[in-house]
Amino acid sequence: MVPPGAASCISLPKIPMEVTVLLNHQQGKKVSAGAIAGSVVAGVVAPVLGVLLFLFYRRRKAKQNALRLGNLATETSTILMQKVTSSATQADVASLAAGITVDKSVEFTYQELFNATEGFNITHKIGQGGFGAVYYAELVGEKAAIKKMDMQATQEFLAELKVLTHVHHLNLVRLIGYCTESSLFLVYEFVENGNLSQHLRGTDYEPLSWAERVRIALDSARGLEYIHEHTVPVYIHRDIKSANILIDKNTRAKVADFGLTKLTEVGGASLQTRVVGTFGYMPPEYVRYGDISRKVDVYAFGVVLYELISGKDAIVRPTDGSASGSRGLVYLFEEALTALDPKEGLQKLIDPKLGDDYPVDAILMMTHLANACTEEDPKLRPTMRSVVVALMTLSSMSEFWDMKNPGLVNLMSGR
Ligand SMILES: Nc1ncnc2c1ncn2[C@@H]1O[C@H](COP(=O)(O)OP(=O)(O)OP(=O)(O)O)[C@@H](O)[C@H]1O
Ligand SMILES: *[C@@H]1O[C@H](CO)[C@@H](O)[C@H](O)[C@H]1NC(C)=O
Ligand SMILES: *[C@@H]1O[C@H](CO)[C@@H](O)[C@H](O)[C@H]1NC(C)=O
Ligand SMILES: *[C@@H]1O[C@H](CO)[C@@H](O)[C@H](O)[C@H]1NC(C)=O
Ligand SMILES: [Mg+2]
Repeated sequence: MVPPGAASCISLPKIPMEVTVLLNHQQGKKVSAGAIAGSVVAGVVAPVLGVLLFLFYRRRKAKQNALRLGNLATETSTILMQKVTSSATQADVASLAAGITVDKSVEFTYQELFNATEGFNITHKIGQGGFGAVYYAELVGEKAAIKKMDMQATQEFLAELKVLTHVHHLNLVRLIGYCTESSLFLVYEFVENGNLSQHLRGTDYEPLSWAERVRIALDSARGLEYIHEHTVPVYIHRDIKSANILIDKNTRAKVADFGLTKLTEVGGASLQTRVVGTFGYMPPEYVRYGDISRKVDVYAFGVVLYELISGKDAIVRPTDGSASGSRGLVYLFEEALTALDPKEGLQKLIDPKLGDDYPVDAILMMTHLANACTEEDPKLRPTMRSVVVALMTLSSMSEFWDMKNPGLVNLMSGR
């Protein structure tokens, strides 16, 4: 369980370092007061601080920031102390946060949501998922997607939600707020261009180019890496799939619904029966033993990579429509990769919508990455951090490809 005061502390790592340090300078007096009070509670929060400091310091180091390291340690600790102590007075946190992010967690009334969706009119409905229906609305001038959940909120649930509204990342669909009147509603930022599944297999959008596919992969990998490595507590998504990767107006990708499976875990007895996860994306250790680790998400992400390469569903049904003979994408790619002539088998799996407009080497690289992500043994799968690094390399290869004359490259690669 998360104590109420822990919320602001937990959400700390997402605050950009530069901004926080700047704030600290401007509020010298307040900081020292906070530091004194902070030392009182330090005993209680020391373990948490340790983790945060570590994260803080490591990120700092990675960014090669020009700030002197000698100052950093003291500055960092005072900022943290101040944040922790002022969590008792929410106003302080709010005023601090106001300088960093305009948006803050909002509790909506049922009337507001009802009105904004014209009484949850069917004309506002934009989707239906395992948890409930999704409606479009404009709230306080912002476009929003309202998820009407088929469940009630428990106290644990609410504590978790409050934490979730504090997790911000460019590649994560932001939880703007919620409403607990009559039923549970989650209010998310609206992402304009639908889900990845639609882009790959629907008819509403232009086919995605190779470069766009790589960027979508990198964007979603970054979102996932963030919840795996940079939030306290760490989140495991457990429902990564193309329907949960949303595309914005600039064809950038955002991961949706993270933290929801965690909510069902604490959501009470009636919810225990819901199978969390989607067939075709679940790794063997999860299906067999219910083992949960970050590698569950890595596996599902590997399946999404296969989808980006092939344009196919995670489960491929035979062309005659019968259920028997359905094959998972993981199986199909493994079959191709272990065949006598892997290149020939792979060629058949590459999305026809790409035409001839793709660099073969990059596709091979992504295939091998997806293959590593979907290793049977979770220990052999890479971390999302490694996946991000691999995709960054792939991305630079693919950008280069875009600048070249494709015809010339085809000639050079012997196609
Ligand atoms: N924030 C959002 N912005 C725009 N569209 C959204 C948003 N959230 C959901 N949608 C749309 O609604 C659809 C249904 O979403 P929902 O999350 O309820 O179901 P799902 O993703 O198909 O399955 P699951 O319940 O397992 O997540 C999504 O596929 C997407 O097209
Ligand atoms: C309901 O929506 C209308 C516009 O659709 C708006 O004028 C009105 O102020 C709203 N009422 C409430 C209570 O939000
Ligand atoms: C939904 O909205 C449409 C168009 O605004 C309207 O014609 C219809 O009557 C509404 N339905 C309900 C059930 O309110
Ligand atoms: C994707 O979006 C479309 C349109 O909003 C919706 O019909 C569909 O249910 C969503 N999910 C999947 C898996 O396609
Ligand atoms: Mg979803």
